[in-house]
Amino acid sequence: MLPGPLSSLLFASLASSVQAVQPSAPDPIVAPLRDLKWGQLNFLHTTDTHGWLAGHLQEPSYSADWGDYVSFAARMRENAESQGLDLLVIDTGDRVEGNGLYDSSEPKGIYLSEILRQQHIDLISAGNHELYKQSTSEAEFFTTVPHFAGNYLASNIDILHPVTQRYMPLGLRFRKLVTKNQGIRIVAFGFLFDFTMNANNTRVQRVEDTIKESWFQEAIRDKEVDLFLVIGHVPVRSIEYNAIYREIRGIRWDTPIQFFGGHYHIRDFVRYDSKAYGLASGRFMETIGFMSIDGLSTSHQQIKPALAAPRFNRKYIDNNVLSFYHHTGLNEESFPTEHGRNVSLLIQQSRTDLQLDQVFGCAPRNLWMFREQYPGDDSVYSWLEKEVLPVSIRDDSRNGKMALVIVNTGAIRFDIFKGPFTQDTTYIVSPFTSGFRYVKDVPFDKASFVVEVLNRQHQILADGRHNADLVAWQLAPPEQSAYTHDSMDDGPIRSSRAYAGLLANQASFITSGYLEPNLIPGYTTTDDGGKDGDDTVHSPITVYRVPSCIQALTYNSSATPENVDLVYVDFIEPYVAFAAKFAGLDVDFSKDSDVFMPNKTLTSLISDWVKENWPCDDV
Ligand SMILES: *[C@@H]1O[C@H](CO)[C@@H](O)[C@H](O)[C@H]1NC(C)=O
Ligand SMILES: *[C@@H]1O[C@H](CO)[C@@H](O)[C@H](O)[C@H]1NC(C)=O
Ligand SMILES: *[C@@H]1O[C@H](CO)[C@@H](O)[C@H](O)[C@H]1NC(C)=O
Ligand SMILES: *[C@@H]1O[C@H](CO)[C@@H](O)[C@H](O)[C@H]1NC(C)=O
Repeated sequence: MLPGPLSSLLFASLASSVQAVQPSAPDPIVAPLRDLKWGQLNFLHTTDTHGWLAGHLQEPSYSADWGDYVSFAARMRENAESQGLDLLVIDTGDRVEGNGLYDSSEPKGIYLSEILRQQHIDLISAGNHELYKQSTSEAEFFTTVPHFAGNYLASNIDILHPVTQRYMPLGLRFRKLVTKNQGIRIVAFGFLFDFTMNANNTRVQRVEDTIKESWFQEAIRDKEVDLFLVIGHVPVRSIEYNAIYREIRGIRWDTPIQFFGGHYHIRDFVRYDSKAYGLASGRFMETIGFMSIDGLSTSHQQIKPALAAPRFNRKYIDNNVLSFYHHTGLNEESFPTEHGRNVSLLIQQSRTDLQLDQVFGCAPRNLWMFREQYPGDDSVYSWLEKEVLPVSIRDDSRNGKMALVIVNTGAIRFDIFKGPFTQDTTYIVSPFTSGFRYVKDVPFDKASFVVEVLNRQHQILADGRHNADLVAWQLAPPEQSAYTHDSMDDGPIRSSRAYAGLLANQASFITSGYLEPNLIPGYTTTDDGGKDGDDTVHSPITVYRVPSCIQALTYNSSATPENVDLVYVDFIEPYVAFAAKFAGLDVDFSKDSDVFMPNKTLTSLISDWVKENWPCDDV
């Protein structure tokens, strides 16, 4: 069923009684908060939301939903207006894939896009997930682009128009705008990193080539500019953003530049120089990034460039209503707007229609991606290897032939919490629709060596430059890529510390000014601005590295088998093929591989296992 206009889904009687945030969301917990510092120009930024517009229903710190964010942006805008300041709302892509609210409808995304459009977003761009499948980018083209007409930037993405069969820009290449209150003249771009895994109905031009095009060169030569604004689905520490930074600086040595990025799912803030900064605002609606810039010249007030000394401030806001109340100076009664409440209700209605709370089983314990050591009893990867895969990887046509299965760790997207495992959880943990493929009768030692090669790919691939596309394509979860990629950076950001947010928590402990004994565990970010970026003061979480791939053998056997079927998630076939060559396996994957377990995906395999093995009465 297609959701109709917002009002037709809502019942007036419910509207008056509904609470903001989703009814099953946990109450946020009171924690010490750091204040925002407003400037002439202020931003709210989301990225990599991956369908989590209902917020986190099992984590109090991130329990606000998109309706609360609609209220928050409206209240922040009111605040800006009352002081004659400006506020821009930004989203930098990967809005799709990763949550039942997006993945479980048919076609995918029909509920999500209706909810998303309720936020007033001033500048928006596409991520790699909008482009993996032809159906996803076409839905973007026919739905989200028109919803945000004039605000959708696509500096380096073209799409094949389904009707005219001609490639055309997915959105505007760039846009010039003048802010309403301060009259700040902005030239804005919207990029995607040098992505190569898109379906063939889109074209992503390399950032390094795009910035040599005449339209870009002209745009950065515009003299009536107070700020260059570069938004994009690009890590803020990356070859691509360094290239853009250098290109603009080469022509405009003194104009302030603000970057907004994402893709690595981390909180991060980068200083390129004293007038150029970049913000990355996390993932999955955990973080609303706040940025302010003061000391800018405007169309009303020129400041000699050499004398201008803009000041940049950032905060990572935990996505919960206590943070929102604090930063707006409002409370439970005064905070929600009618529109925001309506959006919360629309989300609630959509979740009900999609039966996202339908329970498949109950997890007896928490299973973590990074927070517990792998291998270990509380690692989601050990659980897959030891419990799920051995009994689930089975193709009847293979008559009990033993299989060695390879799954990349990036195929798992989120932790599993003790308690109900729902339809929603299924998509949260593994949204990908990839199935399995296999090569039959491979010598066991060579199959094992394939996994070893995959897990040592960085050493192996780094020296040979065998295949640049494969190097750029990460098998581990993106959070970990932030660390792995850092050594590849060049340019002025090279010396800055390795990685922020989720993975930066090992040793840092914030104590200055706060001596609360009972801090909630959460983000304790260290970035180029220091250690005061998180709005909420948390105790740190320890995280551990995971390998690129895990493996499991099916069926019990005391003797090591001579031959096995080499089974893998089809998404990683190019990598497996490459590693197989390295392992001395004489296989042509385009001819010798075949579908294994037709119609089964990792997602369906996990939910089937949960239904069988995790009855709720055990918990
Ligand atoms: C894209 O790939 C499909 C399947 O391989 C092929 O049929 C189609 O012609 C290709 N389209 C373009 C525009 O290259
Ligand atoms: C909120 O929903 C009610 C009930 O459908 C509707 O009357 C009202 O116009 C909506 N308000 C906004 C601001 O969307
Ligand atoms: C393997 O053997 C152990 C112990 O005998 C048993 O608990 C487990 O279920 C078996 N696994 C499979 C996949 O048959
Ligand atoms: C796979 O799905 C297709 C279409 O849904 C169906 O026709 C086919 O029978 C299924 N195959 C198996 C082996 O279940």
